[in-house]
Amino acid sequence: MTESTRMVVVKGVDEMKAVSRALRKDGKTIAFVPTMGALHEGHLTLMAEGKKRADVLVASVFVNPAQFGPGEDYKKYTRDTEGDLDKMRRIGVDVAFFPEPGEIYPPGFQTYVEVTELEKPLCGASRPGHFRGVATVVLKLFNIVRPDAALFGKKDYQQLQVIKRMVRDLDLDVEIVGMPVVREASGLAMSSRNAYLSEEQRTRAGALSRALGEIKRKFDGGERNAAALLESGRRVLTDSSAGDIDYLEIRNGDTLEEVKLASPGDVAALAVKVGRARLIDNIEL
Ligand code: PAF
Repeated sequence: MTESTRMVVVKGVDEMKAVSRALRKDGKTIAFVPTMGALHEGHLTLMAEGKKRADVLVASVFVNPAQFGPGEDYKKYTRDTEGDLDKMRRIGVDVAFFPEPGEIYPPGFQTYVEVTELEKPLCGASRPGHFRGVATVVLKLFNIVRPDAALFGKKDYQQLQVIKRMVRDLDLDVEIVGMPVVREASGLAMSSRNAYLSEEQRTRAGALSRALGEIKRKFDGGERNAAALLESGRRVLTDSSAGDIDYLEIRNGDTLEEVKLASPGDVAALAVKVGRARLIDNIEL
């Protein structure tokens, strides 16, 4: 364990378990922000909120191979350990956990968590196995860190629902806190994958939040027909040549079932490929 300014950096799983055990023995509550690094304002907002919610803030950086499909960007995913450590120190993370892939998935590893229905639609349809990888690593991290509360961004709306369901179904003793999407001035949702965008692609990507804004505007104006709402959003995307639309859908906010008539609490969600970045975003109606 190395310590610099107040932050403790932990790499080993057993060491993290020991730190957590000692904290709990001292009666400290733990907030946890799991990340894959390349930290941006969205992550830092989660961490700032985590600090308010518990005595100790633990944040992890682990680029989880199990949630990347073949041909996806696992190898190219931005890794910036020094930059991440610096940001974590500045925001006041108490324990930074950087596990190694070989410790999280040791030889012989064969146990996975599946949230069978919620993981099927939207991103699950085009990224088979993605949410199985997410649920598995999040459960493992929860077992290692043993947090009282864990914070996730609503930008990954389906991920948040999958994790909430897993926590309910497996009786995990952790409060899941969903935090609003953090956006750039253009409306573009903050994402580590925005780093893949050229200036021109970044401008085009601004259409994603405008499309969702248009759907919300029509919904607030009284339109309930999901097909009509989606058509208005699709027009914004195609008029601005935003990119290749993977999906644009309106679904029930809890079950993620498809809806024909939209109602408050539903979510409009999209995934669009802009250059080599597959970007996701959503808006709650
Ligand atoms: O949202 C992410 O960054 C990842 O999916 C998570 C929750 C850290 C699991 O690897």
